[in-house]
Amino acid sequence: TKTVQGFPKDFLWGGATAANQLEGAFDVDGKGLSSADMVAYIPKALRTNDHAIEITSQRIEQILSGEFEARFPKREGIDFYHRYKEDIALFAEMGFKVFRLSINWARIFPNGDDALPNEAGLQFYDDVFDELHKYGIEPLVTLAHYETPLGLTQKYNGWASREVIGFFTKYAETVFTRYKNKVKYWITFNEINMMTLSPFTGGGVVIDRVDNKLQTIYQALHHQFIASSLATKLVHEIIPGSQMGCMLARMESYANTCNPEDVLKNQQENQMNLYFTDVHARGEYPRYMERFFAENNVALQKEPGDDDILRQYTVDYVAFSYYMTLTVSASPEGERAQGNLFGGVKNPYLKASEWGWQIDPIGLRIMLNTMYDRYRKPLFIVENGLGAYDKVEADGSIHDTYRIDYLRQHIAQMKEAVRDGVELIGYTSWGPIDLVSMSTSEMSKRYGFIYVDLDDDGNGTLQRSKKDSFDWYKKVIASNGEEL
Ligand code: BG6
Repeated sequence: TKTVQGFPKDFLWGGATAANQLEGAFDVDGKGLSSADMVAYIPKALRTNDHAIEITSQRIEQILSGEFEARFPKREGIDFYHRYKEDIALFAEMGFKVFRLSINWARIFPNGDDALPNEAGLQFYDDVFDELHKYGIEPLVTLAHYETPLGLTQKYNGWASREVIGFFTKYAETVFTRYKNKVKYWITFNEINMMTLSPFTGGGVVIDRVDNKLQTIYQALHHQFIASSLATKLVHEIIPGSQMGCMLARMESYANTCNPEDVLKNQQENQMNLYFTDVHARGEYPRYMERFFAENNVALQKEPGDDDILRQYTVDYVAFSYYMTLTVSASPEGERAQGNLFGGVKNPYLKASEWGWQIDPIGLRIMLNTMYDRYRKPLFIVENGLGAYDKVEADGSIHDTYRIDYLRQHIAQMKEAVRDGVELIGYTSWGPIDLVSMSTSEMSKRYGFIYVDLDDDGNGTLQRSKKDSFDWYKKVIASNGEEL
């Protein structure tokens, strides 16, 4: 038998982050407040659900007036703003080819609708990109990773308003022009489907300010789709050879049984997840959404020309996060699985993380094949990883074999998918350095190869140290995925 090749020679290995989860310095050098700066840490025992990220307008007022007192870990991050040189040196030591980060929109346009950009904010990312290039690391930049400037929420209710498209494209044009010689790979919206779960997180939309929740969510998404297409047009005009991607929290789901009712329910579940990438990659709303909109009293307001914009400026590649799979049942009895934001029933064949996320390496291979079949565009895994508690030994070492196992199994399946013929550009594991959790704002939910001495209450030296997974990942990259 002939051996089918593994990873291509230029495969982009690296790690992925978001500004609001690691930079800190939330009010430094002219940065404005963003949605992430409103998210308080609520200890697990006091949390009503696993995520305290959806914020009401009343809460925003209480925070701004000082009436609501709490810690806001995303304001502090892990102080990457001041320590990026040390952190990038460690990524380089692991052999990173790519580093995914987001630009914090409110560093560039502090209120979102400012006439002029903030020079100090622009300079910060110049410095970060220069530092990356010093080591031959390619930046992969997300324009919007849950960091809508708060000014846009207050004045326009975020992406609910069509006007925000203009502010976003101005921001995009500003950074494309500024970094045209430094950044080739871009992503418009992180996990664009987040809007349906938390409109505040996904788009700075405060849902208690509107009458029809579903209408607002899908309208806001329409604005993001148009903005994404216009940004794709701009990036191609401004940066020759640039690549624009969309980004989805991919929730491959399985039918709980072979009962056709379960199978149908599962097909619909997958459609509701894939509709986002369908629009971005195929350039039109899928027809199954027309039925969904009609049956749910959603009447999208489109302007003349919108459909052409979507059709003309589709993405170059499709990126996604992959942490788990879901299992769907048409009957209500199924035992619910814990996921951070996603539901489904328990899959008896899978183990779950300490946060209840169902671990499914083979699902990754299945998902990659489905996605490639559907879009025939290059794919990019821009998030994958295991959030876990780490124990620091007396000598300072951290034996995170569970993390190595998780990543090894996923990378092995990813390799199988490549051998199946899937065109995959790269892999950036989530949180190569420990950072603040998106859903829980905990520090103790760690993903990193690099440990950061900081706890859930904000105590710690912020000192960085290597976990066992650090050397393991270094070896994986050096062998181009051959030594797992
Ligand atoms: C993705 C987000 O949903 O998952 C990241 O894009 C997030 O921002 C990651 O951090 C892991 O989720 P969590 O809640 O464990 O931080």
